[in-house]
Amino acid sequence: MTSPAPTTTAAGRDPVAPGRVAVVTGAASGLGRAMADRFAAEGMRVVLSDVDAGGVRDAASELSERGADVHAVVTDVSRGEEVDRLADEAFERFGAVHVLCNNAGVVKSARAWALTVEDWQWVLGVDLWSVIHGVRAFVPRMIAQDDGGHVVNTASMTGLLPMPRLAAYSAAKSAVVALSESLFHDLHAEGIDIGVSVFCPGFVATRITDSARNRPTALAATAPASGRRTVEGVQATLTADDAAGQVVDAVRTGRFWVLTHDEYREVVLDRARGVGTDALPVVPPVW
Ligand SMILES: NC(=O)c1ccc[n+]([C@@H]2O[C@H](COP(=O)([O-])OP(=O)(O)OC[C@H]3O[C@@H](n4cnc5c(N)ncnc54)[C@H](O)[C@@H]3O)[C@@H](O)[C@H]2O)c1
Repeated sequence: MTSPAPTTTAAGRDPVAPGRVAVVTGAASGLGRAMADRFAAEGMRVVLSDVDAGGVRDAASELSERGADVHAVVTDVSRGEEVDRLADEAFERFGAVHVLCNNAGVVKSARAWALTVEDWQWVLGVDLWSVIHGVRAFVPRMIAQDDGGHVVNTASMTGLLPMPRLAAYSAAKSAVVALSESLFHDLHAEGIDIGVSVFCPGFVATRITDSARNRPTALAATAPASGRRTVEGVQATLTADDAAGQVVDAVRTGRFWVLTHDEYREVVLDRARGVGTDALPVVPPVW
């Protein structure tokens, strides 16, 4: 038996209303920066967080100059104690958190068998443990404030279509999809007015291909890239701002799946239809 899923927050509250509070990780660049811009443009108060101290302060200053009420926190989201501190600062500064975007991420491209232990630790730390820490550190307090809310976890198309040369990334992003679905079920089962979306972008031109810029030296040992990860034949048909607009819309409407690129939808369905049959894994269209 399946129970019907809600399509909007139970009480119909809009988590994106002016004065409400959004927290965005990975907010110094790309999709996170675009989400922070969008939330600020809606009149929300925004906590921008990133491991890139200069970048996140610059982003916060720019938003502040435009009149937004923002706060920058330097956080390495792979570290639980730093995410706890981010939550402490967000609640201390603004008294509430309504929208949490667990968005920071990195990618390492190499053949599955060549990835080093440090590659796995880095990618799983930033792409998966960050979301685990975010849910653990924020959601109990969001429940306790009893004022509605929404959690957006950034996965990837790779979370639905595991791709070659991206075993660690695909593993992390698939786990983010699974975690998001379980979180949704748990909140729904308890009748809690907090929505969940899993953000699965296709290719968007950001600085993701230059992820190594923030790699900690303690996890420096890495596999040689087995050929350049390519996006041949794939145009960045969507800007980060467009994709962030889809996120805002999903938060407003309580949509769970945020698949930015329509062209992947049929491939995802093909893969789903193959599960449990003799079909071999579907070859994804990119990378
Ligand atoms: N751009 C794409 O095509 C694409 C596609 C699918 C999914 N994604 C996902 O979108 C998210 C945002 O990536 P993006 O494309 O904007 O890339 P980006 O590199 O432009 O931005 C990622 C941000 O995360 C920050 N970051 C890296 N390590 C961190 C850490 N340990 N703690 C805190 N912050 C850290 C970086 O400093 C950067 O500001 C990631 O989760 C990525 O996996 C991107």
